[in-house]
Amino acid sequence: MSPDLQQVLEKKFAEKYGREPTVVAYAPGRIEVLGNHTDYNEGYVLSAAINHGTFFALAPRDGAEASLTAGDIMDEVRFPADAPARTEEHTWANYVLGSLAGVLARLPAGSARAFDAMFLGNIPLGSGLSSSAALEVSATLAFARFLGADIPPVEVAKIGQKAEHDFAGVKCGLLDQASSVFGRRDSLVMSDFRTLEFKPVAFSPDVCFLMCNTNAKHALVDGAYNERRECCEKAARFFAAALDHPVSALRDVSWNEWLEHRGEMDDLIARRAAHPVGEDARVLAGVEMLREGDVAGFGKLMFESHDSSRNYFENSCPELDTIVDAAQAIPGVYGARLSGGGFGGSAVVLVDRRAVETASTALRNAYKNRHGDWIDPRVITCSDGARVVRG
Ligand code: GLA
Repeated sequence: MSPDLQQVLEKKFAEKYGREPTVVAYAPGRIEVLGNHTDYNEGYVLSAAINHGTFFALAPRDGAEASLTAGDIMDEVRFPADAPARTEEHTWANYVLGSLAGVLARLPAGSARAFDAMFLGNIPLGSGLSSSAALEVSATLAFARFLGADIPPVEVAKIGQKAEHDFAGVKCGLLDQASSVFGRRDSLVMSDFRTLEFKPVAFSPDVCFLMCNTNAKHALVDGAYNERRECCEKAARFFAAALDHPVSALRDVSWNEWLEHRGEMDDLIARRAAHPVGEDARVLAGVEMLREGDVAGFGKLMFESHDSSRNYFENSCPELDTIVDAAQAIPGVYGARLSGGGFGGSAVVLVDRRAVETASTALRNAYKNRHGDWIDPRVITCSDGARVVRG
């Protein structure tokens, strides 16, 4: 969390609205470390909240109207405080409008109050580090405090997810919002997306993550995401009919069952299904390795995860592959993989703390040689989750 960023936001707020905010909430972005596209298949993920995030500030006002300003571009929208609806014009506002709708839905009718609000974050947009989840979660926490709603943490995450589904049109799982809510300093978060249990897993202080934002955004990202999700659901239906135990999601399918039945399935659906099925097994193995302090083994699982993205799920891209391929040959690097939805965004690299400088230089050079641009690898600190910081 950056106290400076909070100060900048509060100053901008006071300049625009002529008074101080009464409530300020903060929510971090996340890195996904292992377990790709498993969340909506009711599987497992290891992730972490990061030291970059979004502050959301608000103050009550008279009347029935709400004002919302994006603090970076100082663009403003106004809407009835009791009826937030999706907008085509200011699409950035949809994450906030959806969050407000979710908070109001958990309160008795007539609970809405007019407000002025502004937000500011430092997560690069489109970097695959969940800037939208950080906005949803910080807005939800601020609205809940402002309106006196007592919302359990997992419900905060679900409000953000529903905003994404209904207001932004992406059928995401719960990973991004849950990581933002349940993050823990110096730890990874082990999530079980069937039982909705979120547990911290201690992480060796000798290693850290480098986040490498490719700045690449390929294809119709949201369309491709929803399409992958549909393939997984088709695969789950196939296995529900083919196996003699209950299958309600790919979480219920083992790697051996996939191997045994892949030939009976449509080839594309089979390859898509291989990814979450393999990832679930890798997350469970990875948690054990972390407990035993086997960082090298854990890093190998990260490389395997990326191979599975590249070959089975086809949600990598040349820019991400360059980083992961280069990482394989850099001393002090244990593992690397894409992080998040894929098709661009960031790769996350697991590196010995003593090798951070040399690894960063090697990654930068490899990327420049292949794509002509510099990347700017940044050390990520595993951080605490979202909270109200004022009011
Ligand atoms: C995006 C989605 C998450 C998750 C990841 C892939 O970040 O928002 O719900 O599915 O992709 O693991």
